[in-house]
Amino acid sequence: MSADFPAYAPSEEHELLRRTVRELAETKIAPYAAQVDESGAFPQEALDALVAAELHAVHIPEAYGGAGADALATVIVIEEVARVCASSSLIPAVNKLGTMPLLLAGSEELKRRYLAPVARGEAMFSYALSEPEAGSDAASMKTRAVRDGDAWVLNGVKMWITNAGVSQYYTVMAVTDPGKGARGISAFVVDKDDEGVSFGPPERKLGIKGSPTRQVILEDVRVPAERMIGAEGTGFKTALATLDHTRITIAAQALGIAQGALDYALGYVKERRQFGRPVADFQGVQFMLADMAMQIEAARQLTYHAAVKSERVMRGESVPDLTFVSSACKCLASDVAMKVTTDAVQLLGGYGYTRDFPVERMMRDAKITQIYEGTNQIQRMVMARQLLKK
Ligand code: CAA
Ligand code: FAD
Repeated sequence: MSADFPAYAPSEEHELLRRTVRELAETKIAPYAAQVDESGAFPQEALDALVAAELHAVHIPEAYGGAGADALATVIVIEEVARVCASSSLIPAVNKLGTMPLLLAGSEELKRRYLAPVARGEAMFSYALSEPEAGSDAASMKTRAVRDGDAWVLNGVKMWITNAGVSQYYTVMAVTDPGKGARGISAFVVDKDDEGVSFGPPERKLGIKGSPTRQVILEDVRVPAERMIGAEGTGFKTALATLDHTRITIAAQALGIAQGALDYALGYVKERRQFGRPVADFQGVQFMLADMAMQIEAARQLTYHAAVKSERVMRGESVPDLTFVSSACKCLASDVAMKVTTDAVQLLGGYGYTRDFPVERMMRDAKITQIYEGTNQIQRMVMARQLLKK
């Protein structure tokens, strides 16, 4: 992507990328989407296709062997994959989430060591903040890291970790100084092969069934001191700064799910006939379609706007309202995805309610986008705090 990044709207290069990803998604990922949902199996075909096309972690800078794509390009990749399979879109999304703490705060040595295998598609990277009793109130985590010579010893349970067991690497937030609250939390790189790392059974979920969600259990895991990301006590800030960039990728996932549902419904209403004509002829149906498209477009504009701001921050600019727009686009796009997918089911009538058509899967998949990377109540809290701070 060009070094000059003034545009608000996607460039021709971005649109070319969209066409490439759409073609790949429709031919190599969509055929497995229903099966992945039914079986709950990890979408290996999608991972293989994304790796072969070098689309599995496009955000990794060229200096570390990646494609060096900007934040808007990354959003477009996730959006287009989610349009056909939300589970598969968590491959590029979570690779960004897991590696972002390193990109923002990691030492040069850590970046060289851990980003290159992800760029090559040999390893995936997850992000472990949440715990059984610390979800929205993430700073109340209990996972503990205690210094022992030249290492830290980690104990605790991280909950709901996307791609757990499949990912090789994990950014783990842990308490290094219990007396200091959020300022006593530090971030570490944990390797799946570190002694004492194990995983809980897969969670049985409503949607994104092909995306593994498991606990990461840490029992006396010795992590060399140089695997701390940034300075001691900065882990929580790095975790939140990460989310400022990656909530935009969840907005992208939500947008893709919504667009997939609208596209399917558009095709259906032109074919389905009642009262002697296609149901698309009825104004009641047309108004629903118009509302769906209008809401998606509004969410897309805000998401792309936020992506441009995220990219500016990555290039060293100060963008004070990134936190606000990132929460805003995630909140809006996920609410739109829930509404649009529900309407798509409605437009297919009884058929929409069955597993023979993809819109019920899309409706189930949409729900998670209102919950993870901070529930939409938390996004509203973050936005209100930003407003009141001014
Ligand atoms: N960037 C950097 N630092 C930030 C920040 C930001 N955006 N926002 C706050 N901080 C700093 C604050 O300045 C403060 O530092 P000081 O003490 O030095 O001033 C520190 O971080 C703590 O901030 P708060 O006092 O605001 O913290 P809080 O505990 O009151 O609230 C919260 C924080 C916004 C509620 C946060 O806990 C939160 O976002 N919760 C939601 C959890 C969440 O989003 N989890 C996502 C898990 S990942 C996931 O779900 C993966 C997936 O989808 C695939
Ligand atoms: P709780 O915090 O217990 O919230 C319960 C309810 O109370 C919610 O409606 C919430 O909005 C509301 N609430 C809480 N506090 C407030 C408040 N102050 N004001 C108003 N309402 C409030 N985490 C990771 O770290 N890494 C991952 O990879 C990851 N992947 C996930 C994948 C899936 C499929 C799921 C389900 C979760 C994942 N998560 C991950 C965790 C996710 O981020 C949390 O589930 C989410 O932040 C909410 O936390 P909780 O589930 O504990 O809900």
